[in-house]
Amino acid sequence: MTTTTPLHPTVSYPSRVLSGAGHDLARHAARFGPCPHSGPDLIGVVAAAGLRGRGGAGFPAARKMAAVAGGRRPVLIANGSEGEPLSSKDAVLLQSSPHLVLDGMAVVAASIRARESFLYVPAHMTAMMRQLIADRRVAGWDSTDIKVIEAPRRFVAGEKSAVIAAIAGKAAIPSDSAVSTSESGLHGRPTLVQNVETLAHIATIARYGAAWFRTLGTPDEPGTMLISLTGACSAPGVLEVPVGIPLDSLLKTTTTGHPDRLRAVLIGGYHGTWHGTEQLRGHTLSRSSLHSLGASPGAGVVHTLAVGSCGLAATADIVAYLARESTGQCGPCLNGLPRLAESMTTLARGHWSGDVVADLRRYAALVDGRGACHHPDGTARLVRSAMTTFARDVDLHLRGRCETSHPDGRRRVP
Ligand SMILES: Cc1cc2nc3c(=O)[nH]c(=O)nc-3n(C[C@H](O)[C@H](O)[C@H](O)COP(=O)(O)O)c2cc1C
Ligand code: SF4
Repeated sequence: MTTTTPLHPTVSYPSRVLSGAGHDLARHAARFGPCPHSGPDLIGVVAAAGLRGRGGAGFPAARKMAAVAGGRRPVLIANGSEGEPLSSKDAVLLQSSPHLVLDGMAVVAASIRARESFLYVPAHMTAMMRQLIADRRVAGWDSTDIKVIEAPRRFVAGEKSAVIAAIAGKAAIPSDSAVSTSESGLHGRPTLVQNVETLAHIATIARYGAAWFRTLGTPDEPGTMLISLTGACSAPGVLEVPVGIPLDSLLKTTTTGHPDRLRAVLIGGYHGTWHGTEQLRGHTLSRSSLHSLGASPGAGVVHTLAVGSCGLAATADIVAYLARESTGQCGPCLNGLPRLAESMTTLARGHWSGDVVADLRRYAALVDGRGACHHPDGTARLVRSAMTTFARDVDLHLRGRCETSHPDGRRRVP
């Protein structure tokens, strides 16, 4: 069922998973009907729907389900940790439609024959989710046994090997493994890790079917997606939009002032990429459209940088945060990220010595693809995009000026 909900003061989009039904199971039932029954057939329906994961990488959901079905009994993990500071869509989803996420867990667990399911959420949500799971059991809504596990507040704690480690009672840090988690994950069992939004979409697909799901979005990337809007927005927050929405119209309706007056847009969060608005013209919020720009919607973060803000300073702050958030296990994070952060800060503040731009390019190349997880790659991608999108600012900073602090470019970098 699709309704139109004015979630934003100036614009309405079709709402499928952000139902607003809240914690009340009766309201949820009134909006969505009973929890559907499912079996292995669901995997084919999800494949026909063309759903891609909403946790960042956009992997086809049905392929992941099929990879753990049919062999040894698998484990299901719903990932609601949301370590990305610019993202709040999973938290909003779990407040707005927690039962839809739990329905998704129930139908996916049944389709892959999982007997053990885990919900991995930040500390402030554990009590609420445990209560809702208990309410469902009392109401006879479903019999899935779901254990709620606290996700530490850390950027990399949501990476799937870190999630599995945390559920096994170890530190929530990523690990390097040649074996896929679909073969050997939690306690060596086949493990399916799926983002909570992905599971909410599966709950709707199980009810209304693949053809219904495809009535919104694009043929390659059907459905709706949740996006977290931050920065120079008229109303920062979470929106549900059809995948493939034109970025021009999204920015026009949600940012303060005219989008042409924005400094830049960060797409995909801290591991994403910066773009000027002119570069985004004609592009849509979809993987296929953004691919030619080296960008991806990731987990749906759209962060706008206001005129008067320095893109290099903003990037330096993010890279410093990302360097601090590494788990310090791998060379690129241990040695490379602090150097990237230091050089980026030097460039932003204008206290450079030597060839800081060459240093940044060198460190970015050195860390790329060499960690146990994608943390160094994502950080290098962000830095490269900043150097391109803010090329004029790089030039000014090297001459001791910063355009954004003073429109005529005469002011020295602070
Ligand atoms: C550094 C890092 C952090 C991640 N954080 C999250 C997160 O907070 N939530 C999430 O669902 N996926 C996160 N992921 C992606 C997960 O590893 C995994 O791909 C995802 O949960 C799978 O769900 P999906 O297929 O439904 O998208 C992260 C990945 C990386 C590399
Ligand atoms: S690449 Fe970095 S964040 Fe990822 S496991 Fe290694 S040290 Fe930790």
